[in-house]
Amino acid sequence: MKKVHNFNAGPCVLPDQAIEKSIEALKDFAGTGMAVIEVSHRSKEWGEVMDECRSLWRELLNIPDTHEVLFLGGGASMQFLYVAMNFLEKKAAYLETGVWAKKALKEAKGLGDAYALASSADKTFSYIPKGYVIPEDIDYFHITTNNTIYGTEIRYDIDSPVPLIADMSSDILSRPVDVGKYALIYGGAQKNVGPAGVAFAIVRKDALGKVSRYIPTMLDYRTHIDGGSMFNTPPVFPIFVMNETLKWLKGIGGVEAINKINVHKAGILYDEIDRNPLFVGTAAKEDRSIMNVCFVMAPGYESLQDEFMAYAKERGMVGIKGHRSVGGFRASIYNACPVESVEALVSCMQEFAALKA
Ligand SMILES: Cc1ncc(COP(=O)(O)O)c(C=O)c1O
Repeated sequence: MKKVHNFNAGPCVLPDQAIEKSIEALKDFAGTGMAVIEVSHRSKEWGEVMDECRSLWRELLNIPDTHEVLFLGGGASMQFLYVAMNFLEKKAAYLETGVWAKKALKEAKGLGDAYALASSADKTFSYIPKGYVIPEDIDYFHITTNNTIYGTEIRYDIDSPVPLIADMSSDILSRPVDVGKYALIYGGAQKNVGPAGVAFAIVRKDALGKVSRYIPTMLDYRTHIDGGSMFNTPPVFPIFVMNETLKWLKGIGGVEAINKINVHKAGILYDEIDRNPLFVGTAAKEDRSIMNVCFVMAPGYESLQDEFMAYAKERGMVGIKGHRSVGGFRASIYNACPVESVEALVSCMQEFAALKA
Protein backbone atom coordinates (compact mmCIF):
# COMPACT_ATOMS: atom_id res chain seq x y z
CA MET A 1 0.00 0.00 0.00
CA LYS A 2 1.26 3.47 -0.86
CA LYS A 3 2.09 5.33 2.32
CA VAL A 4 1.63 9.07 2.53
CA HIS A 5 1.90 11.62 5.30
CA ASN A 6 -1.76 11.94 6.24
CA PHE A 7 -2.71 15.27 7.84
CA ASN A 8 -6.44 14.95 7.19
CA ALA A 9 -8.68 16.66 9.74
CA GLY A 10 -11.04 13.72 10.17
CA PRO A 11 -11.57 11.08 9.02
CA CYS A 12 -7.84 10.85 9.43
CA VAL A 13 -4.86 8.60 9.98
CA LEU A 14 -5.50 5.65 12.31
CA PRO A 15 -2.93 3.32 13.87
CA ASP A 16 -1.66 0.64 11.42
CA GLN A 17 -2.25 -1.93 14.13
CA ALA A 18 -5.95 -1.02 14.36
CA ILE A 19 -6.38 -1.16 10.59
CA GLU A 20 -4.65 -4.54 10.34
CA LYS A 21 -6.71 -6.07 13.15
CA SER A 22 -9.86 -4.73 11.52
CA ILE A 23 -8.94 -6.26 8.17
CA GLU A 24 -8.40 -9.61 9.93
CA ALA A 25 -11.79 -9.30 11.62
CA LEU A 26 -13.42 -8.69 8.25
CA LYS A 27 -12.10 -12.08 7.18
CA ASP A 28 -12.81 -14.06 10.34
CA PHE A 29 -14.02 -12.46 13.52
CA ALA A 30 -12.97 -14.17 16.76
CA GLY A 31 -12.92 -17.60 15.11
CA THR A 32 -16.63 -17.39 14.23
CA GLY A 33 -16.03 -18.07 10.53
CA MET A 34 -17.87 -14.82 9.82
CA ALA A 35 -16.83 -11.23 9.18
CA VAL A 36 -17.32 -8.91 12.15
CA ILE A 37 -19.99 -7.15 10.09
CA GLU A 38 -21.86 -10.43 9.65
CA VAL A 39 -22.26 -11.55 13.25
CA SER A 40 -25.20 -10.81 15.49
CA HIS A 41 -24.69 -7.87 17.79
CA ARG A 42 -26.35 -10.04 20.44
CA SER A 43 -23.66 -12.71 20.13
CA LYS A 44 -21.27 -13.50 22.96
CA GLU A 45 -18.29 -12.60 20.77
CA TRP A 46 -19.70 -9.15 20.00
CA GLY A 47 -20.65 -8.58 23.62
CA GLU A 48 -17.01 -9.13 24.55
CA VAL A 49 -15.91 -6.38 22.13
CA MET A 50 -18.42 -3.95 23.65
CA ASP A 51 -17.28 -4.79 27.17
CA GLU A 52 -13.64 -4.50 26.29
CA CYS A 53 -14.16 -1.17 24.52
CA ARG A 54 -16.07 0.28 27.48
CA SER A 55 -13.46 -0.87 29.96
CA LEU A 56 -10.61 0.51 27.84
CA TRP A 57 -12.31 3.92 27.82
CA ARG A 58 -12.68 3.69 31.59
CA GLU A 59 -9.09 2.70 32.11
CA LEU A 60 -7.52 5.16 29.67
CA LEU A 61 -9.46 8.19 30.90
CA ASN A 62 -9.80 7.06 34.50
CA ILE A 63 -13.57 7.45 34.26
CA PRO A 64 -15.28 7.35 37.68
CA ASP A 65 -18.26 5.06 38.41
CA THR A 66 -20.51 8.11 38.43
CA HIS A 67 -20.17 8.26 34.65
CA GLU A 68 -21.33 5.91 31.89
CA VAL A 69 -19.62 5.47 28.50
CA LEU A 70 -21.93 5.29 25.50
CA PHE A 71 -21.40 4.56 21.81
CA LEU A 72 -24.03 6.19 19.62
CA GLY A 73 -24.85 6.82 15.96
CA GLY A 74 -25.37 10.21 14.39
CA GLY A 75 -21.93 11.72 14.91
CA ALA A 76 -21.06 14.67 17.10
CA SER A 77 -23.65 16.77 15.28
CA MET A 78 -26.42 14.58 16.67
CA GLN A 79 -24.89 15.02 20.12
CA PHE A 80 -25.52 18.77 19.80
CA LEU A 81 -29.22 17.90 19.93
CA TYR A 82 -28.84 15.22 22.63
CA VAL A 83 -27.18 17.84 24.84
CA ALA A 84 -30.07 20.27 24.62
CA MET A 85 -32.72 17.54 24.87
CA ASN A 86 -31.21 15.99 27.99
CA PHE A 87 -29.86 19.00 29.86
CA LEU A 88 -31.65 22.19 28.80
CA GLU A 89 -34.60 23.10 30.98
CA LYS A 90 -34.53 26.90 30.74
CA LYS A 91 -31.15 28.49 30.11
CA ALA A 92 -27.71 27.42 28.90
CA ALA A 93 -24.51 29.24 28.01
CA TYR A 94 -22.05 28.33 25.29
CA LEU A 95 -18.47 29.39 24.71
CA GLU A 96 -18.49 30.40 21.05
CA THR A 97 -15.09 29.35 19.80
CA GLY A 98 -15.86 28.32 16.24
CA VAL A 99 -18.23 26.86 13.72
CA TRP A 100 -18.82 23.66 15.68
CA ALA A 101 -19.61 25.58 18.86
CA LYS A 102 -22.05 27.71 16.87
CA LYS A 103 -23.74 24.63 15.47
CA ALA A 104 -24.06 23.16 18.96
CA LEU A 105 -25.56 26.43 20.19
CA LYS A 106 -28.03 26.56 17.30
CA GLU A 107 -29.54 23.22 18.33
CA ALA A 108 -29.97 24.43 21.92
CA LYS A 109 -31.59 27.68 20.80
CA GLY A 110 -34.37 25.61 19.31
CA LEU A 111 -35.21 24.18 22.73
CA GLY A 112 -34.65 27.00 25.21
CA ASP A 113 -32.85 30.17 26.11
CA ALA A 114 -29.32 29.34 24.96
CA TYR A 115 -26.75 32.04 24.30
CA ALA A 116 -23.05 32.69 23.70
CA LEU A 117 -21.50 33.76 27.00
CA ALA A 118 -18.30 34.82 25.24
CA SER A 119 -17.11 34.63 21.66
CA SER A 120 -13.94 34.92 19.61
CA ALA A 121 -15.86 35.53 16.38
CA ASP A 122 -14.40 39.07 16.26
CA LYS A 123 -11.00 37.64 15.27
CA THR A 124 -12.08 34.65 13.18
CA PHE A 125 -11.99 32.39 16.26
CA SER A 126 -8.22 32.64 16.46
CA TYR A 127 -8.20 32.68 20.27
CA ILE A 128 -10.08 31.30 23.27
CA PRO A 129 -12.14 33.97 25.08
CA LYS A 130 -11.02 34.63 28.66
CA GLY A 131 -12.24 36.58 31.64
CA TYR A 132 -15.88 35.52 31.35
CA VAL A 133 -17.84 34.54 34.45
CA ILE A 134 -20.05 31.46 34.27
CA PRO A 135 -23.48 32.39 35.69
CA GLU A 136 -24.86 30.14 38.41
CA ASP A 137 -28.47 30.25 37.20
CA ILE A 138 -27.97 28.24 34.00
CA ASP A 139 -28.59 24.55 33.37
CA TYR A 140 -25.15 23.96 31.87
CA PHE A 141 -22.10 25.55 30.30
CA HIS A 142 -20.92 24.15 26.97
CA ILE A 143 -17.40 24.31 25.60
CA THR A 144 -15.60 22.92 22.57
CA THR A 145 -12.19 21.94 23.89
CA ASN A 146 -10.48 21.78 20.50
CA ASN A 147 -11.52 23.94 17.60
CA THR A 148 -10.61 21.74 14.66
CA ILE A 149 -10.97 24.44 12.01
CA TYR A 150 -9.05 27.27 13.73
CA GLY A 151 -6.41 25.35 15.66
CA THR A 152 -7.23 26.63 19.14
CA GLU A 153 -7.59 24.44 22.19
CA ILE A 154 -8.55 24.58 25.86
CA ARG A 155 -5.92 22.22 27.21
CA TYR A 156 -7.09 22.16 30.81
CA ASP A 157 -10.24 21.24 32.69
CA ILE A 158 -12.06 24.42 33.62
CA ASP A 159 -13.90 24.92 36.91
CA SER A 160 -17.60 25.47 36.48
CA PRO A 161 -20.26 26.19 39.10
CA VAL A 162 -22.85 24.53 36.81
CA PRO A 163 -22.78 21.23 34.89
CA LEU A 164 -19.95 21.41 32.38
CA ILE A 165 -20.45 19.88 28.94
CA ALA A 166 -17.63 19.49 26.43
CA ASP A 167 -17.42 18.61 22.78
CA MET A 168 -14.05 16.82 22.68
CA SER A 169 -14.42 15.48 19.14
CA SER A 170 -10.94 16.47 18.08
CA ASP A 171 -8.84 16.15 21.23
CA ILE A 172 -10.34 13.32 23.25
CA LEU A 173 -7.68 10.94 24.56
CA SER A 174 -4.89 13.28 23.52
CA ARG A 175 -4.20 14.25 27.15
CA PRO A 176 -5.37 13.23 30.61
CA VAL A 177 -8.77 14.71 31.52
CA ASP A 178 -10.41 15.05 34.93
CA VAL A 179 -13.66 13.41 33.82
CA GLY A 180 -15.28 14.04 37.22
CA LYS A 181 -15.42 17.76 36.38
CA TYR A 182 -17.79 17.18 33.47
CA ALA A 183 -21.47 16.31 33.33
CA LEU A 184 -20.91 15.19 29.76
CA ILE A 185 -18.03 14.73 27.36
CA TYR A 186 -18.93 13.79 23.82
CA GLY A 187 -17.59 13.70 20.29
CA GLY A 188 -17.37 11.96 16.97
CA ALA A 189 -14.85 9.13 16.84
CA GLN A 190 -13.25 10.03 13.53
CA LYS A 191 -10.17 11.84 14.81
CA ASN A 192 -8.48 10.15 17.75
CA VAL A 193 -10.64 7.10 18.36
CA GLY A 194 -11.66 5.43 15.15
CA PRO A 195 -13.58 5.80 11.92
CA ALA A 196 -16.68 7.92 11.31
CA GLY A 197 -20.00 6.30 12.17
CA VAL A 198 -19.90 6.26 15.95
CA ALA A 199 -19.96 8.99 18.58
CA PHE A 200 -18.88 8.61 22.18
CA ALA A 201 -20.64 10.12 25.19
CA ILE A 202 -19.31 9.99 28.74
CA VAL A 203 -22.20 11.08 30.87
CA ARG A 204 -22.65 11.61 34.60
CA LYS A 205 -25.70 9.58 35.47
CA ASP A 206 -27.03 11.82 38.22
CA ALA A 207 -27.00 14.84 35.89
CA LEU A 208 -29.75 13.21 33.81
CA GLY A 209 -33.51 13.24 34.42
CA LYS A 210 -33.62 16.92 35.40
CA VAL A 211 -35.60 18.26 32.44
CA SER A 212 -39.38 18.22 32.24
CA ARG A 213 -39.77 17.84 28.45
CA TYR A 214 -40.60 14.61 26.71
CA ILE A 215 -37.33 13.22 25.31
CA PRO A 216 -37.76 10.98 22.26
CA THR A 217 -36.56 7.47 23.10
CA MET A 218 -33.51 7.47 20.84
CA LEU A 219 -32.39 10.92 22.03
CA ASP A 220 -32.57 10.05 25.71
CA TYR A 221 -29.16 9.11 27.16
CA ARG A 222 -30.98 6.91 29.72
CA THR A 223 -32.25 4.67 26.91
CA HIS A 224 -28.68 3.95 25.89
CA ILE A 225 -27.42 3.54 29.43
CA ASP A 226 -30.16 0.97 30.08
CA GLY A 227 -29.49 -0.74 26.76
CA GLY A 228 -25.69 -0.84 27.15
CA SER A 229 -25.40 1.18 23.90
CA MET A 230 -27.34 -1.61 22.19
CA PHE A 231 -30.92 -0.38 22.46
CA ASN A 232 -30.87 -0.67 18.70
CA THR A 233 -28.23 -2.15 16.40
CA PRO A 234 -24.97 -0.36 17.16
CA PRO A 235 -22.49 0.76 14.47
CA VAL A 236 -20.61 -2.51 14.79
CA PHE A 237 -17.62 -1.95 12.55
CA PRO A 238 -16.73 1.57 13.76
CA ILE A 239 -16.91 0.28 17.34
CA PHE A 240 -14.64 -2.62 16.45
CA VAL A 241 -12.03 -0.26 14.98
CA MET A 242 -12.43 2.03 17.99
CA ASN A 243 -11.67 -0.86 20.32
CA GLU A 244 -8.53 -1.70 18.35
CA THR A 245 -7.50 1.97 18.40
CA LEU A 246 -7.88 2.06 22.17
CA LYS A 247 -5.84 -1.14 22.50
CA TRP A 248 -3.08 0.51 20.48
CA LEU A 249 -3.22 3.59 22.71
CA LYS A 250 -3.01 1.47 25.84
CA GLY A 251 -0.09 -0.44 24.31
CA ILE A 252 1.97 2.70 23.81
CA GLY A 253 1.39 3.85 27.39
CA GLY A 254 -2.04 5.53 27.40
CA VAL A 255 -2.92 9.20 27.56
CA GLU A 256 0.07 10.31 29.65
CA ALA A 257 2.42 8.88 27.04
CA ILE A 258 0.50 10.15 24.01
CA ASN A 259 0.25 13.61 25.58
CA LYS A 260 4.04 13.83 25.68
CA ILE A 261 4.29 12.63 22.09
CA ASN A 262 1.59 15.11 20.98
CA VAL A 263 3.28 18.03 22.72
CA HIS A 264 6.55 17.08 21.05
CA LYS A 265 4.98 16.76 17.58
CA ALA A 266 3.14 20.07 17.85
CA GLY A 267 6.27 21.71 19.27
CA ILE A 268 8.49 20.91 16.32
CA LEU A 269 5.87 22.13 13.84
CA TYR A 270 5.12 25.38 15.70
CA ASP A 271 8.85 26.01 16.12
CA GLU A 272 9.28 25.74 12.38
CA ILE A 273 6.30 28.03 11.70
CA ASP A 274 7.75 30.63 14.09
CA ARG A 275 11.25 30.31 12.67
CA ASN A 276 10.51 30.07 8.95
CA PRO A 277 10.13 33.53 7.34
CA LEU A 278 7.65 32.17 4.76
CA PHE A 279 4.98 31.05 7.22
CA VAL A 280 2.99 32.47 10.09
CA GLY A 281 0.68 30.76 12.57
CA THR A 282 -2.94 31.92 12.78
CA ALA A 283 -3.93 30.93 16.35
CA ALA A 284 -3.01 33.01 19.42
CA LYS A 285 0.17 31.45 20.80
CA GLU A 286 -1.22 30.73 24.27
CA ASP A 287 -4.25 28.94 22.78
CA ARG A 288 -2.51 26.87 20.15
CA SER A 289 -3.93 23.41 19.56
CA ILE A 290 -1.65 20.42 19.66
CA MET A 291 -4.06 18.57 17.35
CA ASN A 292 -4.66 21.01 14.48
CA VAL A 293 -1.82 23.30 13.51
CA CYS A 294 -3.04 26.20 11.33
CA PHE A 295 -0.77 28.52 9.40
CA VAL A 296 -0.67 30.77 6.33
CA MET A 297 1.98 32.27 4.09
CA ALA A 298 3.66 35.22 5.80
CA PRO A 299 2.93 38.76 4.52
CA GLY A 300 4.78 39.25 1.26
CA TYR A 301 4.76 35.54 0.41
CA GLU A 302 1.01 35.04 -0.10
CA SER A 303 1.42 34.37 -3.80
CA LEU A 304 3.43 31.23 -3.00
CA GLN A 305 0.50 29.43 -1.37
CA ASP A 306 -0.47 27.23 -4.33
CA GLU A 307 3.15 26.52 -5.13
CA PHE A 308 3.85 25.32 -1.59
CA MET A 309 0.73 23.18 -1.66
CA ALA A 310 1.91 21.49 -4.86
CA TYR A 311 5.48 21.15 -3.51
CA ALA A 312 4.20 19.46 -0.35
CA LYS A 313 1.84 17.21 -2.29
CA GLU A 314 4.70 15.99 -4.45
CA ARG A 315 6.53 15.01 -1.25
CA GLY A 316 3.64 12.89 0.00
CA MET A 317 1.82 15.38 2.24
CA VAL A 318 -1.93 14.85 2.20
CA GLY A 319 -4.67 16.99 3.72
CA ILE A 320 -2.76 20.17 4.60
CA LYS A 321 -5.19 22.55 2.94
CA GLY A 322 -6.81 24.80 5.52
CA HIS A 323 -10.57 24.63 6.03
CA ARG A 324 -12.44 26.46 3.27
CA SER A 325 -13.64 29.08 5.79
CA VAL A 326 -10.12 30.15 6.82
CA GLY A 327 -7.79 29.18 3.94
CA GLY A 328 -4.05 28.65 4.29
CA PHE A 329 -2.83 25.38 5.74
CA ARG A 330 -3.84 23.05 8.51
CA ALA A 331 -1.87 20.02 9.60
CA SER A 332 -3.98 17.74 11.75
CA ILE A 333 -1.57 15.75 13.87
CA TYR A 334 -3.86 13.52 15.89
CA ASN A 335 -2.72 10.69 18.13
CA ALA A 336 -2.01 8.24 15.31
CA CYS A 337 -0.06 10.74 13.17
CA PRO A 338 3.55 9.54 13.42
CA VAL A 339 6.28 11.96 14.45
CA GLU A 340 8.01 11.05 11.15
CA SER A 341 5.13 12.67 9.24
CA VAL A 342 5.51 15.88 11.22
CA GLU A 343 9.27 15.83 10.64
CA ALA A 344 8.66 15.30 6.92
CA LEU A 345 6.38 18.34 6.82
CA VAL A 346 8.94 20.42 8.69
CA SER A 347 11.67 19.38 6.21
CA CYS A 348 9.36 20.22 3.35
CA MET A 349 8.81 23.74 4.76
CA GLN A 350 12.55 24.20 5.26
CA GLU A 351 13.43 23.03 1.76
CA PHE A 352 10.76 25.22 0.20
CA ALA A 353 12.03 28.23 2.15
CA ALA A 354 15.60 27.51 1.01
CA LEU A 355 14.35 27.68 -2.60
CA LYS A 356 12.36 30.88 -2.14
CA ALA A 357 13.65 33.04 0.67
C1 LIG B 1 -15.05 19.91 17.28
C2 LIG B 1 -16.03 19.23 16.37
N1 LIG B 1 -17.30 19.06 16.78
C3 LIG B 1 -18.20 18.45 16.00
C4 LIG B 1 -17.89 17.98 14.75
C5 LIG B 1 -18.95 17.31 13.92
O1 LIG B 1 -18.73 15.94 13.89
P1 LIG B 1 -19.65 14.94 13.08
O2 LIG B 1 -19.24 15.04 11.65
O3 LIG B 1 -19.34 13.60 13.69
O4 LIG B 1 -21.07 15.32 13.26
C6 LIG B 1 -16.58 18.11 14.28
C7 LIG B 1 -16.18 17.61 12.96
O5 LIG B 1 -15.10 17.80 12.46
C8 LIG B 1 -15.64 18.76 15.12
O6 LIG B 1 -14.36 18.93 14.72
